[in-house]
Amino acid sequence: MQAAAVAHPNIALVKYWGKADAARNLPAVGSISITLDTLTTTTSVRFDPGLDGDRFVLDGEVSSPARSSRVHECLELFRRRRPELPPAEVTSANSFPTAAGLASSAAGFAALVTAVDAALGSPFSRDELADIARRCSGSSPRSLVGGFVELALSGEDTRLRPLLAAGDWPLEVVVAVTSNAAKTVGSSAGMEHTRSTSPYYRSWLETSPGDLEAAREAILGRDLEALAAVAEASCLAMHAVTMAARPGLVYFNGATVDCLHRVRALRREGTAVFFTVDAGPQLKAICGPGASELVAAALAEVPGVVDVLRCGLGEGARAVRG
Ligand code: PMV
Repeated sequence: MQAAAVAHPNIALVKYWGKADAARNLPAVGSISITLDTLTTTTSVRFDPGLDGDRFVLDGEVSSPARSSRVHECLELFRRRRPELPPAEVTSANSFPTAAGLASSAAGFAALVTAVDAALGSPFSRDELADIARRCSGSSPRSLVGGFVELALSGEDTRLRPLLAAGDWPLEVVVAVTSNAAKTVGSSAGMEHTRSTSPYYRSWLETSPGDLEAAREAILGRDLEALAAVAEASCLAMHAVTMAARPGLVYFNGATVDCLHRVRALRREGTAVFFTVDAGPQLKAICGPGASELVAAALAEVPGVVDVLRCGLGEGARAVRG
């Protein structure tokens, strides 16, 4: 039994930050994201009774126990439904830097659950795969869907709501890479620290539903100016509640801040562009159709930017020939 799948990172325009239930990895807020195209995670899985345990090979290297443990947990979630599943070898490769704020875990788990499903003959619904993926990485269910998607809270659960397909509003994305180093505080640890120590956490939770509604409306109306306002506000609020934790966490570096000002200057000069930043120092500039060439050239000139990646919006995770 073996199969392979590809998936792409997604970038949240309305952020998920904080867990309502850490044991089930249930987010405290909904989120809205776009799925990218050219940055790709390819994952293959091979179930083999001859293996003496699960094995995980990432970018050509047998992975550390810490990283393998999340892959093993993901496979165990499938074994709860299919107890007869033998040990597996999982091989994954990213076409972009891992663990540096480019949602490599989101693409990774979306690809993994899709590959496992394909290896077993596709018995699972998208909702079941989303549930398994979410328990491994809260943002990963969004990479199961292409284009614009909401991960909405629904009682004690979450639900995927596709909003627009990639081709319906072909925004472009420029990632300004300001560091290739792995982030120092991962998102789960950062969220828990924020929830338990930030005096602004309650306000953050209260702000989210209004931001989700405004973003949904802006996306369905293809209104870039309105989307820019709510996405930048959601990003800065996420970083503000995190910086207010004790001790505060600062994911930005100097170049992140310089890029942010550059993006706003471009917008003032008439370019359709806005920024977002996740739990790492890379700045993502979301551009109107056709604007990414100019934006990429401008961000490449900001001191401290080590690389600039350009991509469009893409499809959700899918099985491929392994
Ligand atoms: O899914 P995680 O645990 O990597 O958390 C993602 C958190 C952010 O990227 C900062 C925001 C988001 O909604 O993607």
